[in-house]
Amino acid sequence: MPSTQPQLDPRLLAANLSGFHYIDGALARPVAGGKLDVHFPATMEVIGQVAAGDAADIAIAVAAAKAAQSGWAAMRPRDRGKLVAACGARLLAHVEELARLTALETGKAIRTESRVEAGVVADVFVYYGGLAGEVKGETVPFHPDQIVYTVNEPIGVVGAIIPWNVPMLLMALKVAPALVAGNAVVVKSSEWAPFGVLRIAQLLGELLPKGVFNVVGGDGPSAGAPLVEHADVGKVTFTGSVPTGRLIARAAAEKLIPATLELGGKSPMLVYADADFDAVVAGAVASMRFTRQGQSCTAASRILVERSRLRAFVDALRARVDQLVIGDPLDEATDIGTIIAPRQMATVQRYLAIGKAIPGAVWHECGQLRTDARHVDGLYVRPHIFEGLDNDSQLAREEIFGPVTVVIPFDTHEEAIAMANDSDYGLSATVWTKDLGRALDAVQRLQAGFVQVNQNLVVQPQLSYGGWKHSGIGKEADLAAMTHHFMRQKTVLLRVR
Ligand code: NAI
Ligand code: MG
Repeated sequence: MPSTQPQLDPRLLAANLSGFHYIDGALARPVAGGKLDVHFPATMEVIGQVAAGDAADIAIAVAAAKAAQSGWAAMRPRDRGKLVAACGARLLAHVEELARLTALETGKAIRTESRVEAGVVADVFVYYGGLAGEVKGETVPFHPDQIVYTVNEPIGVVGAIIPWNVPMLLMALKVAPALVAGNAVVVKSSEWAPFGVLRIAQLLGELLPKGVFNVVGGDGPSAGAPLVEHADVGKVTFTGSVPTGRLIARAAAEKLIPATLELGGKSPMLVYADADFDAVVAGAVASMRFTRQGQSCTAASRILVERSRLRAFVDALRARVDQLVIGDPLDEATDIGTIIAPRQMATVQRYLAIGKAIPGAVWHECGQLRTDARHVDGLYVRPHIFEGLDNDSQLAREEIFGPVTVVIPFDTHEEAIAMANDSDYGLSATVWTKDLGRALDAVQRLQAGFVQVNQNLVVQPQLSYGGWKHSGIGKEADLAAMTHHFMRQKTVLLRVR
């Protein structure tokens, strides 16, 4: 299949990529030949199959990566960076194609989500490509007769395990810095959304040396676990759930290799009575990732509102979310698409039932469902805003990963901070107030890795991102993330006299 021309028919593209891994510069069939169906969750039509990888496929991919890595690491860093930046330019020319493909396999709306993701993916490669010369060490004033310095070196073969909610972007945040640092990479794609990532590997495979960027499909236990366990994988980087993160950390501990973990969240949004109300309401819609069906680790799924504004806030939020159109992910008019897969749908519905059964719970189901006969099996859930639940309720403590948020009143600043921090998670938080003294106090006391005041930007290159507590270990998306997580440090003592 010629890949220089964007292929704008996502069904055709998925069919062409169906059943393959991408190993050593080419599409490759799984050794055992297994396949798993991949669906368009708006109709549940089968759009292709992901190659069901296992330890044999992982062994081939890791061997290819290992063989390619030393030559890749031996390049001048800026030449390597230029190639990675060229990957970004290549992806930019394929944004529309990748947007359609990811909308098809994930059910995320093309205009509000999928096209945005594809654009940021290209940007991540451009950004890291430009940093290739910046992975500097230090000189150490240790002794007049010695030149003492530190140097950052690549680790070797990196294993990256990615989820399905933002598969291309979360892949890029791992692969781009790993490559620029001089590593070769084996990605285990998500079994629910493998094609966007596979297409990127194919497109970039025409620019990069064979074997430096490989993608193996398959489920977690069959393909992900052997990748972590493989003797030649020297580093693992993972985004996904807390239980899987624990399994991966244990396996990494057994091998004594480093693991970066980007896990879940239950991120608080603190709304004080003096905040700019229109900005707050728009910010809540965006922070809660309603247009991604709430399938975001950063989702503001606990909105803490000063009691005097509670009624007005909930009414305004309802009115705003009610304007959102829920429909065909590939339709430009759609704001909100579908949940990714039946299992995730069942999880969301289970939490909705739990919430509705709590005494005192009040909920508002919002948004305009505009589907037709083709979508009868589609995984549609309207956004739900809950009131009447407290911060100890299951809906306020556990990550739902669906379009469900809980609005909880507070009376004092102290109470707001205490509630915000009373969580197993610590990924992100937003604070909305015009009182800068109070904002600064909140910023200093909030237990979260990413805190914003009066805005709600999403993850992007240059901004270090990663959680505290059960939200993970390590950071992504900036220069330090590349040197700390994809390189190892050597201290050199050169005695010259
Ligand atoms: P998961 O954590 O099981 O899956 C994420 C990735 O890990 C997938 O590629 C999967 O194949 C792989 N995996 C699963 N088991 C593995 C194992 N034993 N060894 C190696 N790799 C393994 O997440 P799942 O089941 O898809 O979603 C469940 C919940 O996880 C969601 O409801 C959400 O709460 C959370 N989640 C959080 C994400 C985040 O961005 N932090 C992303 C996806 C899910
Ligand atoms: Mg799917």
